[in-house]
Amino acid sequence: MNKIDTQINDLSNGQQLSMEENVEEKVKPFKRSLSRRSFLGKSAALGAGAIGGAWILGDRTPAYATGTLTQGDADILRFLSAAEILETDFWQQYNELGGIQDSEVPGGSGSKLYTKALSRLDSDMDQYIHDNTEDEFTHFTFINAYLVSRGAQPVNLDQFRTLPSSQATGAQQIPRLTNLMQLTVDTSYWTKYRSRSGNPDLGDTFPPAVPGLLQGQFPAIPRSDDDLRPNKHIQAIANTAAFHFAFIEQGGTSLYPSLAQRVTDVEVLRVLLSIGPTETAHFQTWHDKAGNAIPLTDPTNGLVFPDLNSPPFGGEDFQTNLIMPEPCPFLNRTFPVCSIIRPTETNGAAMGALNALTADGLFRGQSQAFFAFLTQLAQAADAAQRGC
Ligand SMILES: [Fe+2]
Ligand SMILES: [Fe+2]
Repeated sequence: MNKIDTQINDLSNGQQLSMEENVEEKVKPFKRSLSRRSFLGKSAALGAGAIGGAWILGDRTPAYATGTLTQGDADILRFLSAAEILETDFWQQYNELGGIQDSEVPGGSGSKLYTKALSRLDSDMDQYIHDNTEDEFTHFTFINAYLVSRGAQPVNLDQFRTLPSSQATGAQQIPRLTNLMQLTVDTSYWTKYRSRSGNPDLGDTFPPAVPGLLQGQFPAIPRSDDDLRPNKHIQAIANTAAFHFAFIEQGGTSLYPSLAQRVTDVEVLRVLLSIGPTETAHFQTWHDKAGNAIPLTDPTNGLVFPDLNSPPFGGEDFQTNLIMPEPCPFLNRTFPVCSIIRPTETNGAAMGALNALTADGLFRGQSQAFFAFLTQLAQAADAAQRGC
């Protein structure tokens, strides 16, 4: 018997349910018979915190669902948990060097020159990095707790923490899951969200805003204090980070609605529909900040950040203040254009996300066992079907 059922039995004063009986069926009519007043009276005695707020507000709606998840729902949540653990790992690295280190997001002591270079894009960059990091931590922690509450296995990637930390002053020296020092960032999301005629779900492809970031391996955090100079080099690293922030969060923006289409349980759907849009909030923020990246050429490696507002860039596909999704074709080109998240195709969405993160260079140096485990989680999530 799970926790909510136990609490209901405690409240029922004699309406104990046998373990052999169908608990779900017995509990439903009992829930309906509880008047708001009698429920509040009993819960006050227990301590209102013992029962979730939705019960109190909605009478008939439990604060959380009961019973075992379908295999498909568990597999989707497990892949999302893994993705969130990975997000947390690299956001933590960003926060240690370029965010705000405090009791909410502890670890590291900041890199003054890296933080300063980031602040040239927006004076609040450190706060946004901090808040994004904290959000990711809560995402995986919640999903894992939710999995356990529904009788499913949580995800733990600790055995794969094998990658080195940055040697720059300010970084913790702990083993990591992800590598921010050899990224190959795909910035085609920039033109994808500005296109009025193309949608990746309809087979369209989009040019990158910063072609150079797709043609090599570049650090998004200083690898050591040697990376803090010259100024244009550390600024290029901060620019890379800004475009990487948006790349990551637009991926999460697509992943949640893509997978939500195949969940079975309405509450699992609620979990996905409630977390997913926070990824979109992150993306919108980073999309705006990346537009403030300083145009420059990194003197150490030739990486070019073009002026996106001037020829051969500029116009609707590149202009930096066009940060809201341009309307585009959706489902079928015969419909009117619509401002939407894209892609949201559900088939293969989890493997697509894993492949995109791998191509990003985030896992450079990881073990075969790591890739095998992540692939297994992604394939299981992609095999999930509504109702199974
Ligand atoms: Fe997240
Ligand atoms: Fe995220």
